[in-house]
Amino acid sequence: MKIIIWASLLQAVVSFSVPKTSVPRSSSALFAEANGSAAPKKILVLGGDGFCGWPTSLYLSDQGHDVVVVDNLSRRNIDLELGCDSLTPIQPMEVRCQAWKEVTGKDIRFVNLDVAKEYDLLVQLIEKEKPDSIVHFAEQRAAPYSMKTSKTKRYTVDNNVGGSNNLCCAVIDSGVDAHIVHLGTMGVYGYGTSGGEIPEGYIDVILPGGRESNILHPAYPGSVYHATKCLDALLWQFYNKNDQLRVTDLHQGIVWGTNTPQTALDERLINRFDYDGDYGTVLNRFLMQGAMGVPLTVYGTGGQTRAFIHISDTARCIELAINNPPKPGDRVEIFNQVAETRRVRDIANLVAKLTGVEVNYIPNPRQEADENELDVSNKKFCNLGLDPITLDTGLFDEVTEVVKKYKSRCNPQKILPASFWNKKRAEACADLDPKSVKLAEEKTEAAAP
Ligand SMILES: NC(=O)c1ccc[n+]([C@@H]2O[C@H](COP(=O)([O-])OP(=O)(O)OC[C@H]3O[C@@H](n4cnc5c(N)ncnc54)[C@H](O)[C@@H]3O)[C@@H](O)[C@H]2O)c1
Repeated sequence: MKIIIWASLLQAVVSFSVPKTSVPRSSSALFAEANGSAAPKKILVLGGDGFCGWPTSLYLSDQGHDVVVVDNLSRRNIDLELGCDSLTPIQPMEVRCQAWKEVTGKDIRFVNLDVAKEYDLLVQLIEKEKPDSIVHFAEQRAAPYSMKTSKTKRYTVDNNVGGSNNLCCAVIDSGVDAHIVHLGTMGVYGYGTSGGEIPEGYIDVILPGGRESNILHPAYPGSVYHATKCLDALLWQFYNKNDQLRVTDLHQGIVWGTNTPQTALDERLINRFDYDGDYGTVLNRFLMQGAMGVPLTVYGTGGQTRAFIHISDTARCIELAINNPPKPGDRVEIFNQVAETRRVRDIANLVAKLTGVEVNYIPNPRQEADENELDVSNKKFCNLGLDPITLDTGLFDEVTEVVKKYKSRCNPQKILPASFWNKKRAEACADLDPKSVKLAEEKTEAAAP
């Protein structure tokens, strides 16, 4: 295993598509030592064409696992619907898999399948492949998109809840004892509702009459998207109790960064980078705006505190979860997949200081508290050996370099919020003009005589 990993590292060093100084510090080799010598597994990665799914698929393959990516390419279709695109030129899945084979000699297979709609094919696939683990990323993942229209609300519920229910039924029907590893979100807990540190999934409570209990943490979703993750969590509880499904639910923070040591091996392996108002997540959006010379758009007071994790750690956490499945009969395992929490305006000020752009406070399109505290436990992953990457301005450079390289692909009119939680929020944002956003160079050219 070590030889394979060092070979990959060597390739990372000689690759030229992304500056090597900027690839995240932690190598798969160092981490593999902390992760023990678990046997290679057969893994289905549902949603493996996406922002988290693709680098995770490469990482798992690099670690010696046999990876099959399952995806219906719906995220690429939503880009077409929104008239937007990944800032980075992501390649078709066939090209991605071929490039991985050329660069590493390893196979990743791709199956185009809709988890929410093609149930029979899903059962057949599980029966045929007999995976040890199924990683479930295959959901509509943008809170703003889920709040855009009644059509996108209904799509998000049908796709996410239907897909998760199908997965449980398909595992049961196939008779394969596959461990399901699902990506949930920190947003299932709500923000700052526990009155202290948010525990990992379950919370000790005292019920009326002084009865002590340990229950699933109350759900407090802030969007239709977050509501689907809460509904997923109940499905895991039910099928775990009824059919003894082995499930790990990972409540992940906001993912930032672009490349990992594996995606940096070849430009054809590059990861997706979303920067638009619907899919661009907060830190990546700020880093993109900073690199493009566009004022940072902070919603409301910027007093929202959020949890963050670097994309390289997403992949590592998934492997830790795969290598540490619940035992038969155990309850649903829940981890908080976060590195740290930060306040949005503090992050904006950090990026502004680094890049020299202004910070613009704009009306908040979201129905949420102006300010919140957030204290989250992440002890379980740390106890398994994770040493999380924190917001390191050195790693900001990696994102900035990627953004600058592909800045000609940016449509600045897509940066401002384009989805509003309710009529009141839409009215408050009515004066935001997408056309007013110009890249630094455009501004300079426009000002020239
Ligand atoms: N990106 C983040 O910051 C973040 C944070 C917390 C949790 N998550 C969770 O992680 C998971 C992956 O997020 P992401 O950022 O990679 O999203 P993404 O949209 O980039 O990737 C999701 C992938 O799933 C596919 N997909 C969606 N519905 C499908 C279906 N019915 N059948 C087959 N494929 C389907 C899409 O085509 C896409 O490739 C999501 O479940 C998301 O909720 C992401």
